[in-house]
Amino acid sequence: MENITAYIEQHKDRFLEELMDLLRVPSISADPKYKDDVLKTSEIVKTRLLEAGVDHAEICETQGYPIVYAEKMIDPSLPTVLVYGHYDVQPADPLELWTSGPFEPVIKKTDLHPEGAIFARGSCDDKGQMYMHVKAFELMMNTDTLPCNVKFMIEGEEEVGSESLEGFVKENREKLASDVILISDTGILANDIPSITTGLRGLSYVEVEVTGPNRDLHSGLYGGAVANPINILTQMIASLQDEQNRITIPGFYDNVEVLSTEERAEMAKAPFSLDAYKTALDLSDVHGEEGYTTMERNSIRPTLDVNGIWGGYTGEGAKTVIASKAYAKISMRLVPGQDPDKITKLFCDHFKNIAPKSVKIKITPHHGGMPYVSPTDDYGYKAASMAMEDSFGKKPVPVRSGGSIPIVALFEQELKIKSILLGFGLDSDAIHSPDEHYGIFNYFKGIETIPRFYKHFTDLKK
Ligand code: BES
Ligand code: MN
Ligand code: MN
Repeated sequence: MENITAYIEQHKDRFLEELMDLLRVPSISADPKYKDDVLKTSEIVKTRLLEAGVDHAEICETQGYPIVYAEKMIDPSLPTVLVYGHYDVQPADPLELWTSGPFEPVIKKTDLHPEGAIFARGSCDDKGQMYMHVKAFELMMNTDTLPCNVKFMIEGEEEVGSESLEGFVKENREKLASDVILISDTGILANDIPSITTGLRGLSYVEVEVTGPNRDLHSGLYGGAVANPINILTQMIASLQDEQNRITIPGFYDNVEVLSTEERAEMAKAPFSLDAYKTALDLSDVHGEEGYTTMERNSIRPTLDVNGIWGGYTGEGAKTVIASKAYAKISMRLVPGQDPDKITKLFCDHFKNIAPKSVKIKITPHHGGMPYVSPTDDYGYKAASMAMEDSFGKKPVPVRSGGSIPIVALFEQELKIKSILLGFGLDSDAIHSPDEHYGIFNYFKGIETIPRFYKHFTDLKK
C-alpha cells in the first residue's frame, strides 16, 4: 500500500491544479445561461478519464445534459465497480457573500482545514469528490494495481433532479451491470472521525401560489376587508407544524419506519457535540421535533421547510399595498416508508383543504426522490470500512445523512445494485452556500482510500 501515498505525494500539485481547472468552468445546470459551460465540463471529464487510462469513454446525449460514460474492463471474471458522480454544480448566488470568486478557485486555511481548503462552487459538491475517483483510477493504472473492472457514469443534472439519468439507467441496464456502485457525494463526521453514509433522505418539493384579489390594492382602502394572500400564506404555513414541531398533514407519518430502541442507541454512539454544533451556527438553542435528538432530527425523521417565500413590496421605504399574490417553495425530506408521490398528494390535498374561501391556491410539484438505506453487513460496506480504517487509522462509524441523492434509490430499483456512499466532505464545507470549500486533506484522503476500497472489495468477492 506504500505505492499509494508515494504516487499521491509525487503528483500532488498536478492533482490540485487539474481540479482547480475543472472548478473554473461554471457548470450550473439550473441556469440555461451556462449551457455551454455545462457541455464543456462534460467534455473535460471525458478527456480526463481517457488520459487516466480508460479503454473507452463517450458522451451520451440525453434530452438534457449529457452523461459521461467510460470503462476499463480488465477481466470479465473479476468484479466491476461502477462509479457515479456529478459534474454539474449549484448556482453561486448570492454572489456578494463570497469572499473570493465562486469560479476562481483559491486555497485558504480554515479552523477545520488547517492544511488549506479549495474555495469554489462545486469544490466539495461534487467536482472535487468526483475527481478523486478519476485520480484514484489514474493511480491504480500507473502503479499496476487496478484489481478489478471499472465503469464511470458522471452526470450533469444531479442538482436539478437527475431526470435524464433516470431514462439512461432504464435503457442501459446491461451496460451498467456491476457489483457495486461507488459514490463520493456525501461526507464524514470530522477529519479525525471517519464515517460512512448508510442512508439518504427522500424529497418532495412543491411551489405554492396563493391569490387574493385580482390586483394589488391600497392597504388602507381595502385593508381589513379582503384576504391578504401573504397573511394567509404565512398562517397556513405556520399551521403545518404543531407545538411539538410535528407535521400536521394528515397521513404524513403513516408508514414512517420506526427505529428500535437498540438502533437509536447505536446511532447515539456516533460522536456529536451539541455545544459545538450550536457554536458553529451561532445558535442559542436548537429546534425540532420533540422526543428526538439533533442527530435523529436531521437523519431518521422527516421534515417540512420553507426554502423561499415572496410577494408584495420588498423595495426601499414603505409602500402601502395588499399584494394580489404570495408564493413559497416548500421541501419535505422523507425517510424510509414514505413515498414522494404520495406525500406530495397529501400535501396538496391538505393545503387546499385548509385554505380559506377568500383565496385561490395553485400548487406546482417539482422533482422528488425516494429515500435510501444501505446495509452494513455486505461486501461493499465491509470493503469501504476496511479502506477507511487503512487510511484514517480508525474504524469508520455508520451514519445516516439528512441529504438526498434521489438517483441512488433508482439504481437499486432498476439495476438491483447497492450503492456505497464513500464521501469525504464536512457538513461545514458550505455546499450550496457562499464560500463552498473542500479540504485538501479530504481530497487526498479520498484519492488514497478509493484504491483501498477496490482492493478490499475484490479480495472479499474472491
Ligand atoms: N451531494 C448532495 C447531497 C448530499 C450532501 C447528501 C451531503 C448527503 C450529504 C447533492 O448534490 C444534493 O445537493 N442533493 C439535493 C437534492 C437534489 C434533488 C437537488 C439535496 O439534498 O438537496
Ligand atoms: Mn452532490
Ligand atoms: Mn448538491
